[in-house]
Amino acid sequence: MTQTVPVLKPDSMAVHTTIAELRHHVSGWRRQGSTVALVPTMGALHDGHLALIRQAKKCADRVVASIFVNPTQFSVHEDLAAYPRREAEDTAVLAKAGVDALFLPSVTEMYPPDFATSVRVTGVSDGLCATARPDHFAGVALVVTKLLLQALPDFALFGEKDYQQLQVIRRLVRDLDIPVTVVGVPTVRETDGLAMSSRNAYLTSAERQIAPDLHRILDHVAARLAEGALFAELSDAATSHLLGVGFQSVDYIEFRDADDLTPLDRASRPGRLLAAARLGRTRLIDNVPVPIAR
Ligand code: PAF
Repeated sequence: MTQTVPVLKPDSMAVHTTIAELRHHVSGWRRQGSTVALVPTMGALHDGHLALIRQAKKCADRVVASIFVNPTQFSVHEDLAAYPRREAEDTAVLAKAGVDALFLPSVTEMYPPDFATSVRVTGVSDGLCATARPDHFAGVALVVTKLLLQALPDFALFGEKDYQQLQVIRRLVRDLDIPVTVVGVPTVRETDGLAMSSRNAYLTSAERQIAPDLHRILDHVAARLAEGALFAELSDAATSHLLGVGFQSVDYIEFRDADDLTPLDRASRPGRLLAAARLGRTRLIDNVPVPIAR
């Protein structure tokens, strides 16, 4: 059966629900010599996603965004059913942002009933967020591998807010020789410093007041590390500080090598300070870069 690339007005966005349609559209662009960037999302879009789209438009001639709330990256006790779904609004936002095609697959399109394959990245997937969410990064690795092979983009863009996820994706792209350039985009923040996240919608107004302290405390610790302090001298105080301002618990606050995420005791190499802490029913994560100490 021959398919034709949909003829679209310059400002219109194609919406594809099947892998075959997506592939057909992207291969049409390729035949015309256009480059392609992919922005994978789970929807509930905010300005952080729009920063990914803006960057994608700078990288490539054509931009594909995907919205897929990926069940394999949620554990049974997590918020899959409650995860915010705003497909109609998100579609309008992406069209307005100048996305060329939206991929909106169903769960069975992505995971047919006989699906049997897993993708597991060791090393960078261990510890940090994986301690509380043991199967999360295998689910992310699987769906991102599939999306990259489905769209075959030149560039794929991910936010630095999910820094461990970004490093897992970089590792799998290198290890599996997937011909794509992974672009990490800096975290977009509210004016008070809170990292934008679809899960911020769960915060009560009292929790929303406390939430920016996560970033403030990370910034403070990062500044001390950049002055040459040892992380062991700072970590307990940072945890107490988070509990003191109203976080119920701190899953972790850790200082890691910015590339392979191995633990660092001081800023002797480019580092990343990462934390996850709980406010009511919301688990917030954030991270900041730490330059080599002067
Ligand atoms: O960061 C996200 O929104 C998701 O983990 C991703 C990369 C789209 C995979 O489902």
